[in-house]
Amino acid sequence: MRIIKTIQEMQSFSIDMRRTGKTIGFVPTMGYLHEGHVALMKKSREINDVLITSIFVNPLQFGPNEDFEKYPRDEQRDIDIATENGVDVLFMPTVDEMYPTKQSIQIEILDRVDVLCGKSRPGHFDGVATVLLKLFHITSPDHVFFGKKDAQQVAVVDQLIKELNFPIQLHMVETVREEDGLAKSSRNVYLSPKERSEAVHLFKGLQIAQQKIFDGEKNPAIIVNEVKNYIITHTTGKIDYIEILRFPSLQPLTVIDQQIIVAVAVQFDQARLIDNLII
Ligand code: PAJ
Repeated sequence: MRIIKTIQEMQSFSIDMRRTGKTIGFVPTMGYLHEGHVALMKKSREINDVLITSIFVNPLQFGPNEDFEKYPRDEQRDIDIATENGVDVLFMPTVDEMYPTKQSIQIEILDRVDVLCGKSRPGHFDGVATVLLKLFHITSPDHVFFGKKDAQQVAVVDQLIKELNFPIQLHMVETVREEDGLAKSSRNVYLSPKERSEAVHLFKGLQIAQQKIFDGEKNPAIIVNEVKNYIITHTTGKIDYIEILRFPSLQPLTVIDQQIIVAVAVQFDQARLIDNLII
């Protein structure tokens, strides 16, 4: 596996690959890799000649009171995991490499961000979109892979690719979970043992919603209320949101008819966890 730290080297590698007719799959991450990230790598390996993964903790997508400084990092462990999982190039730029000068262009996402994490993390998706625009230009992928766990991110990237005409195919990969159902996340390491045992109730709450829908409940308010009560009773975390929206438009709805997302975010002491089911 080759490790690349500069934009110039990364760009010339990608251009060379494309010139020789190789297809490029790209998996962007912020590192502290786990099986969720590995699932994206595996999917990319299946359908592309070359796999590029990036590790970059992007300061632009963290709010002033968020966990940029203490976001978990372990470079050597990440290099080992990437090597074991068939990554051809690991792109690991520094913050100065990615943002050498003060920004003079501001990307602002206007749709699909007034709900869920977009609402509680203002500017977050502008930061995600900015870094992804740069990374797409740097790695020139044919296919990109994103996890369903961050479903709003998928909805925003889908918009970004279509509206800005990137010749890129987006793939959404199923959420990888711990044995008890908790969605894998780099931030799970910040849960206390008690919180870790409670955290499974995010998924259990979502499953209750799913069962209600399968049983014929069509009123989103009734379901949201039930999930809210369940999570309040079973965790000490503070609920940030529980919402049912259309997917991928993320529009509100009054009757459950087409494809929907049930999404939840809970703030624990040192970690904010999110999860969702698309039904
Ligand atoms: P990060 O949180 O590291 O996630 C990288 C990718 O892994 C995202 O597409 C995310 O949805 C996916 N992922 C995380 N946990 C997963 C799980 N349990 N199952 C399946 N996929 C999972 O998301 C980001 O980084 C950043 O916002 C980024 C896109 C890299 C831009 O900075």
